[in-house]
Amino acid sequence: MGRPDSGLAMLLVMFAVYAAEPNPDDPLAALTVGERPDPVAPDGWVEVDVRAASLNMHDLWTLKGVGIKAERFPMILGCDGAGTLADGTEVVIHSVIGDPAWTGEETLDPKRTLLTELHQGTFADKVVVPARNVLPKPADLSFSEAACMGTAWLTAYRMLFVKSGLRPGQTMLVQGASGGVSTALIELGRAAGLRVWVTGRTEEKRALATELGAHAVFESGARLPEKVDGVFETVGKATWSHSMRALRPGGVIVVSGSTSGPDPSADLQRLFFLQLSVIGSTMGTRDELADLMSFCATAGIRPRIGSELPMADARAGFEAMQAGETAGKIVFTR
Ligand SMILES: NC(=O)c1ccc[n+]([C@@H]2O[C@H](COP(=O)([O-])OP(=O)(O)OC[C@H]3O[C@@H](n4cnc5c(N)ncnc54)[C@H](OP(=O)(O)O)[C@@H]3O)[C@@H](O)[C@H]2O)c1
Repeated sequence: MGRPDSGLAMLLVMFAVYAAEPNPDDPLAALTVGERPDPVAPDGWVEVDVRAASLNMHDLWTLKGVGIKAERFPMILGCDGAGTLADGTEVVIHSVIGDPAWTGEETLDPKRTLLTELHQGTFADKVVVPARNVLPKPADLSFSEAACMGTAWLTAYRMLFVKSGLRPGQTMLVQGASGGVSTALIELGRAAGLRVWVTGRTEEKRALATELGAHAVFESGARLPEKVDGVFETVGKATWSHSMRALRPGGVIVVSGSTSGPDPSADLQRLFFLQLSVIGSTMGTRDELADLMSFCATAGIRPRIGSELPMADARAGFEAMQAGETAGKIVFTR
């Protein structure tokens, strides 16, 4: 709730979890749970009363100062969320904010930003976004489940259904088992009729992948029984060479992240000799978000939430993600 500040300006403030300043070496030292000014919605924007928002690795990058200019701090964190409009409409946020003049596909708009890169994020009482960046929340998804849709699940949906070109019956390998994008890929791939293989770093994480529908699970870097049609990469350097070796001739890697760092040695000889494709993918469009939620309802799947915490306890969620202790999405509620 906004309330008058004791200062002369009668500033209205709200609860917010934000990055005070970038800290590349100790990102959690920059994490602040406190108050920020109430947002003001420009013409054509709406104010969303946030009910739930999910944690993404992107929030840790922001704390480190990766992908955001120094002058944009302090920045409220949170790239996705679900909540209510002033009239009570329940909505899911699409967090790719484009240039109003852009007419093409919004993820290709050179001026587009993700919430928290330019505009304040969702780990707060309220967030303002352009009116076109809210979609009706499906009744069968809770606010916490709906909050997982806008970043991790949307990214996974686009990687699999828009970018990979894989068909039902083919074999996909997901690098990483327990993360937000990984768990989404496992559930989406299984529901779509692909054969889903997953690598995970621990027995517990591999068991989670099996529970979510993986047909086979492997230790990170393990030799696979046969080559796969497509690999889904968010890990980067730690798994890249394994991903390249895992592919059949003509196979495809779709990559949307490099958590363990970028890999400068991209195995170019294998790339051209086996005519492999490496396809980059980032977020997804508003229409893809609508289709994702429709697919979840039709297929009867919903995001796996590993932990749900009050937003005031956000630090514990950040610590878990930084330590690699994920078991699906980490969600903050109000
Ligand atoms: N381009 C985009 O639009 C977009 C959107 C969303 C995310 N991303 C990127 O995708 C990445 C994942 O994001 P997230 O939110 O899903 O993070 P997350 O929930 O923390 O998941 C991290 C995943 O990475 C795996 N992993 C991390 N380090 C590893 C290592 N050294 N070896 C093997 N596996 C490792 C983990 O595997 P285990 O389960 O085995 O621990 C886990 O599945 C991030 O880099 C993020 O920036 C990009």
